[in-house]
Amino acid sequence: MKWDAQQYQKHSFVWQLGEGVVEMLAPQAGELIVDLGCGSGQLTARIAESGARVIGIDRSTEMIAQARANFPAIDFRVADATDFRVDEPADAVFSNAVLHWVRDAGAAISCVASALKPGGRFALEMGGRGNTRTLLEGVREVLGRVPEVWFYPSIAEYSALLEQGGLEVRFATLFDRPTVIEGENGMDDWLKMFGGALGLSDRERGEIVRRLRGRMFRDGNWVIDYRRLRVVAVRRADG
Ligand SMILES: C[S@@+](CC[C@H](N)C(=O)[O-])C[C@H]1O[C@@H](n2cnc3c(N)ncnc32)[C@H](O)[C@@H]1O
Repeated sequence: MKWDAQQYQKHSFVWQLGEGVVEMLAPQAGELIVDLGCGSGQLTARIAESGARVIGIDRSTEMIAQARANFPAIDFRVADATDFRVDEPADAVFSNAVLHWVRDAGAAISCVASALKPGGRFALEMGGRGNTRTLLEGVREVLGRVPEVWFYPSIAEYSALLEQGGLEVRFATLFDRPTVIEGENGMDDWLKMFGGALGLSDRERGEIVRRLRGRMFRDGNWVIDYRRLRVVAVRRADG
């Protein structure tokens, strides 16, 4: 999917709600940290405030251009999560709201493991099993199916992939996080921003919004039934 970096910056809830993932990462001064799928760079900059050296990686050239414009002192690079390398082994890899877009999870995990020092940590948040279930019901009702765009794994599924990739899971949680998108047009905006990969026509988008209104529009705002998976895993010293 092509990302509109300027529009994305209006969806600040993504990185505001990702602040807790930075706390889970607990970056330290002097560490080298990769922010995988850094988008327009707000959390990369937040990590850099700790005194860590950060490399922001994203496959979207538009997002990387926006990140460089926002934070010129940070090292941002265009690369895919399933095919990236760093010149020096990293102390940690961080990722917020990216890995559900990456269907070849094994390839991404293999790159993460190769980028980490033994004992290095991988701290991530992504959509987890059951994410946006109500919203996807609306998509199914209108399209007759849900296109395979996102990968929302359970703790067991993602832990197995991490273990196969040489990482040891130290912490994992799957939790409901109803997310408020403000205003009448919230769902339409969300579908335009994040649902681009569903390939909806204007008519289909309008019909989904109409159907979901009774289920998801409350007190003047849309509430999307996000469920997030948070994991901290560590690269095993024995490979
Ligand atoms: C919702 S944004 C999150 C950005 C940022 N992590 C944040 O919290 O604001 C998702 C980002 O994942 C990136 N992305 C999606 N698939 C990717 C892939 N295969 N490799 C690298 N980046 C990817 C997109 O380009 C986009 O910038």
